[in-house]
Amino acid sequence: MFFKKKKIEEIDLLHLPQHIGIIMDGNGRWAKKRGLPRSAGHKAGAEALKKIITEANNLGVKYITVYAFSTENWKRPKEEVDYLMSLLLDYLRNAEKTLAGENVVIRAIGSRKELSQEIQKQIIKTEEFTKNNTGIVMNIALNYGAREEITNAVKEICAEAVNRVIDTSDITENVIENHLYTKNQPDVDLLIRTSGEQRLSNFMLWQVSYAEMWFTDKLWPDFKPADLRCAIVDFQNRGRRFGGV
Ligand code: IPE
Ligand code: IPE
Ligand code: MG
Repeated sequence: MFFKKKKIEEIDLLHLPQHIGIIMDGNGRWAKKRGLPRSAGHKAGAEALKKIITEANNLGVKYITVYAFSTENWKRPKEEVDYLMSLLLDYLRNAEKTLAGENVVIRAIGSRKELSQEIQKQIIKTEEFTKNNTGIVMNIALNYGAREEITNAVKEICAEAVNRVIDTSDITENVIENHLYTKNQPDVDLLIRTSGEQRLSNFMLWQVSYAEMWFTDKLWPDFKPADLRCAIVDFQNRGRRFGGV
């Protein structure tokens, strides 16, 4: 406890990670441990998320991307997928009231066409409602997969080349970035994954190229603002070299 408290006080607010990515994992195991259905874990996970966004925003972090549903998560039982989708719809609806009140800009990243009409409409509504806010930008990765994102970018750039909008010799890393969902946003500096798994699971493969990785055994619904602060302090004590010395 003392150690944690000390860490909180150690945060250097002038050198915060600009962009934090979070792979919110472990909802199912959290529920199982309590003899509850997986849906209860997802519900508790959504509650945990609200507190983390508030904390990140209060600290002054500019961008946060949270992995809510991957392009691979459709493999789960229909009942679980349906529950996750209803939870996400509620989250987007309520976010207009709760998080927008905190000045959060909400964006959904990922492929939208596979989502229900209702969710697609709500995404547009929530994005529109929060777009002029000036606080943290929260990207909700929803039906997101980094390979899909990169494939999509390649398709768009190829179409531009075919239509002579761009010459292939002008395709730079910047051009590729401008075709990603995170266009105009900084790279992820700090990547957090809960639940003890140490893998990327198709999350932001381009944007995490030089991210510092931070793993915890805690399951996502147990992840608290104090844990976020611990991760930030650890991040601030790492030596980042970006290939230099
Ligand atoms: C993360 O928790 C939430 C989503 C992937 C939607 P999980 O549902 O993956 O939980 P575990 O990994 O089975 O414990
Ligand atoms: C990653 O978690 C996706 C989200 C957190 C939304 P998974 O639970 O789907 O990842 P794997 O299957 O363990 O790699
Ligand atoms: Mg999981």
